[in-house]
Amino acid sequence: MSKKLPKPELSEPERLNGARIPTPVHKLPRLSGEYGVNLYVKRDDLTGFVLGGNKIRKLDYLLFDATQHGATALISCGRVQSNHCRAVAALAASYGLESILILRGEKPDSLRSNLLLDYLFGAQVFYVTEAEYKERENLRRIIEHQIVDRGGKAYYIPEGGSNPIGTFGYVNMWRELTMQLGSEVPNYDEPVPSKFDSIVFANGSGGTQAGLILGKLLDEEKVDTRIVGVNVCYDASETFHLVKDLLWKTVAHFSLPLSFMAEDIEILDGFIGEGYALSRREELNCIAHVARQEGVLLDPVYSGKAMHGLLETLKKSPEHFGKNILFVHTGGGFGNFNIEDAWSEVFLK
Ligand SMILES: Cc1ncc(COP(=O)(O)O)c(C=O)c1O
Repeated sequence: MSKKLPKPELSEPERLNGARIPTPVHKLPRLSGEYGVNLYVKRDDLTGFVLGGNKIRKLDYLLFDATQHGATALISCGRVQSNHCRAVAALAASYGLESILILRGEKPDSLRSNLLLDYLFGAQVFYVTEAEYKERENLRRIIEHQIVDRGGKAYYIPEGGSNPIGTFGYVNMWRELTMQLGSEVPNYDEPVPSKFDSIVFANGSGGTQAGLILGKLLDEEKVDTRIVGVNVCYDASETFHLVKDLLWKTVAHFSLPLSFMAEDIEILDGFIGEGYALSRREELNCIAHVARQEGVLLDPVYSGKAMHGLLETLKKSPEHFGKNILFVHTGGGFGNFNIEDAWSEVFLK
């Protein structure tokens, strides 16, 4: 089944082609059987290797903008093990740009997973305390001046790439998905359904959710697919406001011809567990179960908690998300190599 791609509005931003897209959509047959639903996954963990995950979709738009502004250096920020910052460092290197990362947290004694990759891709790293991070504008300005002094130009990318330009990464993903609906899937018996009742994924800085909501609202088909973010960083109210603000800003920035309501922003709350990036045994068990059942590697910080939230909710209320559910795997797999002790505890003790 083929569908006409909705024409982008003239005012919409443009992008580069760093992400390997379209990413596959396929069924998770054994989990579907176990939970009595049709559970599919959109493999945004496969948008690339070092660029993999949801961030590169946003960064493709942001880097296009950066090149339009003549940038020679990208500055961004996040936590020490940020997937976003790793993608910024890798992308900057692949375009011959400098990358400067303002990381919230202490400099560790040894380098692992995303942070190791930041260094491998030549990022200049500044470690800052929580208080300094709140005031990071100051440091950012100093770094920008230094770049100008050596004849360059800096382009600033906010945490998670979540601003009106980056948000289009997931508007575009919605459009990509509409083209995949009803299509055959190589190596799988069942095609992609012609409609998903719910799309579920991890919400951190809100950009993935805001983009998908906008994609849906801009879609002429007016489908009633629910877009459900599982808050894994902030509490439900803060997460709701992050998405709402980003929606407002994006609609205003690009003069998009639409309005949205609070009901459009659905948050599945209760699955942060011990807190951001802290793993409980039940979440690790969920990651291991999905890995063994389906050969899909989730991550402990984002996608693992989101999948745990989805499956726990299905256990209690099998009809909660409807019959056809799409889980967006937003990547982050390198994060498993930051918690070897916890994994050793699960498998070796
Ligand atoms: C692997 C992974 N999944 C999900 C998210 C959340 O995405 P967003 O910041 O767009 O809400 C992030 C980023 O924070 C991430 O790194």
